Amino acid sequence: METRSQWGTRAGFILAAVGSAIGLGNIWRFPAVAYDNGGGAFFIPYLIALLTAGIPILIMEYALGHKYRGSAPLTFRKINKHYEWLGWWQVFISFVISTYYAVIVAWAIYYAYYSLTLAWGTDTQAFLFENYLQVVPAGEVGSLVPSVLFPLIIVWLVALFVLFRGVKKGIEIANRIFIPTLVIIFLIIVIRAITLEGAVLGLQAFFEPNWDKIFSGEVWVAAYGQIFFSLSIAFAIMITYASYLPKKSDITNNGFIVGLGNSSFELLAGIGVFAALGFMATVSGTSVNDVVAGGIGLAFVVFPQIINEFPFWNEFFGFLFFASLVLAGITSLISIMETYIAGLSDKFGISRSKAVLFGGGVAALVSLLFATQGGVNFLDAVDYFINQFGVAVAGLIEVIVIAWFLRKVTNLQEHANAISDIRLGLWWKLCLWIITPIILGYMLYDLLRTNVLKLFDTETGNYEGYSDAFIMYSGWSVAIGAIVLGIVVALFKWTNRSVLEKEDE
Ligand code: ALA
Repeated sequence: METRSQWGTRAGFILAAVGSAIGLGNIWRFPAVAYDNGGGAFFIPYLIALLTAGIPILIMEYALGHKYRGSAPLTFRKINKHYEWLGWWQVFISFVISTYYAVIVAWAIYYAYYSLTLAWGTDTQAFLFENYLQVVPAGEVGSLVPSVLFPLIIVWLVALFVLFRGVKKGIEIANRIFIPTLVIIFLIIVIRAITLEGAVLGLQAFFEPNWDKIFSGEVWVAAYGQIFFSLSIAFAIMITYASYLPKKSDITNNGFIVGLGNSSFELLAGIGVFAALGFMATVSGTSVNDVVAGGIGLAFVVFPQIINEFPFWNEFFGFLFFASLVLAGITSLISIMETYIAGLSDKFGISRSKAVLFGGGVAALVSLLFATQGGVNFLDAVDYFINQFGVAVAGLIEVIVIAWFLRKVTNLQEHANAISDIRLGLWWKLCLWIITPIILGYMLYDLLRTNVLKLFDTETGNYEGYSDAFIMYSGWSVAIGAIVLGIVVALFKWTNRSVLEKEDE
């Protein structure tokens, strides 16, 4: 008897997977990463990363989840009981990400509200850090900031409500509503942006290739990093989502649809953002170089400035922009949380409601740290370390374990080919056996070289100039803690033995 939850329709699964992939990473991370890494020339490494790692790993994760019908810990446990920790490690990475991701969505909710009156005024930088976040120096906690806390409560209530309702009635329905709405809103924003005065200047800056950069290792590292974060791979998410697919489901086609759909949205976001930056540069009489910024700065400092300058309906377009961040963020947040909800109920046999209450409850409590006056500093350090030393490393190890140690590539290929229209061939195997391990291995080496050395040498500066102690407890300890906790939980007794008995199906 099949008792595992299932998606209602194929479209439902695709929308949920696209909803997970399209997130905060697409709307502001991608444009800034592309610009910093050679503009037009970045597309070559980006495309190669998509085709050699992104889509192959996505298909591998779909095949894993579908074949073994489990959350990431259950899937790895079923393949080989010595690798359950790898699943839990990815689950803990997702847990950490969910605790601060929710806070960024909360800021976007408040900014959607601020946009109705353009409350941020002309000095949008001071407004963000002083008036809104009330930031204190790194390492201090300060008190809870009510204007972050209230929207954060809304975010958790919405996410928990959707997750309580389950896979088909909750996650699937939410994505069926949120994702088409997001696409429509985003199209309106992009059309508005490219018809602004000076838009072409921004697009030139975005697309004009800087060929010198294409030979730099850093650019390739950035391209692979972006693809991992953006496609939600190595987060345990795609394995979990694929475990809810019915037995007869196309794996490979779905992988291509999600991978290419996500990248198309990403490109659209790049075009919209840079057209708007070109407009900003034109009205302020500067160059695009002077107005571009990454991360928090782009969405919460530069965009409010751009919206101030819009010729008409400023409040309306401001609202749409932040609403799009909220929709993109909440659908990704739900998928990130589903990893631990599925892991807990698979291993400990607790009901979905209890897993949602426990997992979501603990995540909500931890997220309060990021809603304090010192929250943004913690968020910045945790985000950097958990992505660089969590997602990227877990991705490398996942591929090495599956391809080299457990030699499952041919087996998974046969599984996918038996049910999919597109047949996986040598391309897929070569990517998993050779190309991805080599490139990700280099990426890891490069990261360690630049970060570990920096850590012990304050002359060259820590990440963002934070103190050694701060980097240690809010960066390294979080990244290392995820793997340690993963190993510890894997050692716990598997109380729900019934799911393991189906191991050899
Ligand atoms: N894939 C999600 C994003 O891009 C996590 O934000």
